[in-house]
Amino acid sequence: MQFSDRINQVSPSATLTINSRAAELRSQGRDVVSLAAGEPDFSPPENVMQAMKQAVDAKHTGYTPVPGLPELLKAVSGYFSFYYGVEPENRMLTTTNGGKQGLYNLMQILLNPGDEVLIPGPYWVSYPDMVKLAAGNPVIVPSSAEQNFQVEPGLLEEYISKDTKVLVINSPSNPTGAHYSQRDLDAILDWAINKGLFIISDEIYDQLVYPPAKQSSAVKWFESHPENVAIVNGLSKSFAMTGIRVGFVMADPGVISNLNKLQGQSTSNICSIAQYAALEALQGPHDFLQDSRKLFSQRRDRALKIIQDWSGVTCPKPDGAFYLFPEISSLYNGKIQDSTQMCTYLLEQAGVALVPGVAFGDDDCIRISYALDEDTLVNALQKVEQAFQDL
Ligand SMILES: Cc1ncc(COP(=O)(O)O)c(C=O)c1O
Repeated sequence: MQFSDRINQVSPSATLTINSRAAELRSQGRDVVSLAAGEPDFSPPENVMQAMKQAVDAKHTGYTPVPGLPELLKAVSGYFSFYYGVEPENRMLTTTNGGKQGLYNLMQILLNPGDEVLIPGPYWVSYPDMVKLAAGNPVIVPSSAEQNFQVEPGLLEEYISKDTKVLVINSPSNPTGAHYSQRDLDAILDWAINKGLFIISDEIYDQLVYPPAKQSSAVKWFESHPENVAIVNGLSKSFAMTGIRVGFVMADPGVISNLNKLQGQSTSNICSIAQYAALEALQGPHDFLQDSRKLFSQRRDRALKIIQDWSGVTCPKPDGAFYLFPEISSLYNGKIQDSTQMCTYLLEQAGVALVPGVAFGDDDCIRISYALDEDTLVNALQKVEQAFQDL
């Protein structure tokens, strides 16, 4: 079968090798701990679980409008109003199958062949392939641990061209946890607006920002330049609802109607039961968010304390998400020359599964997820430390 050029240029998942080797080792009876999770290690709040059961009992199983139930859009608007002081109308909102579909669909409706998209690196794995699937060209703007994995206008300027159409910004970031202060984010967005770029702000980790750092957002730029900004968010990370698949996009009505047109001809509305879960998550109590923040920030501090003692390893303190992204390239030797080989070694030697930095565009680093209980996390990090010493 001759598959399309489009699909042929999509990279296979870089985590595949590690995951299948981890499964193989487990099947041989080896104890393998995964520090590779991209999701919270706990369930959604109980009221959300109940709301889903009630939606099933009430037989809320039919199609809904493509953008989602009007009352859900109202609740999403309430989210933006409560956390960011802007109250979008329903026509400025749509719901998607996770933030991922929102991002994918935005690329589809915005890009023409050859349009360039600036993606600060290290970046979330899916951005470049989403751009390629929309016939665009991803342009990576790299940053390193020394720069706290953050970019600034001067650096972005070096990568802009006459074909640049979109800037993707992700704060807090997967894989680095780096989080822009509102001032630094404003500087970037001001620059992008002045260049006439469309900004996609992926704020999926906005609830996982650890004090004293504060939430920041592109919301005020949406208010002043609605035609240039889309904000993508969702409930996967904040409410531990990854599998329930609820994302949302806030954008200009023109952008939203095109997103709805695409979704209407592809997947239609998101799962009706998921919509009731989302309604409850958004309208019910939000203390779950505070509890998760506290838990994750404790784990971050504990893990960072261990990692910062590793000789030859640099790891900035991230202010958000649930990842650490240490630079480990000074440990490379004759046998281990890149992040994939390092992760393979750590899996074989220490029984710890990690994601190689190359998956996120940085082969000098590895990604450590701290979305697991603290004792297991500490134990796994100690094993990694030992494996580093054995190199
Ligand atoms: C940076 C980033 N954006 C978007 C997503 C998509 O999340 P979901 O589709 O589950 O909402 C993820 C998930 O890992 C992510 O890390």
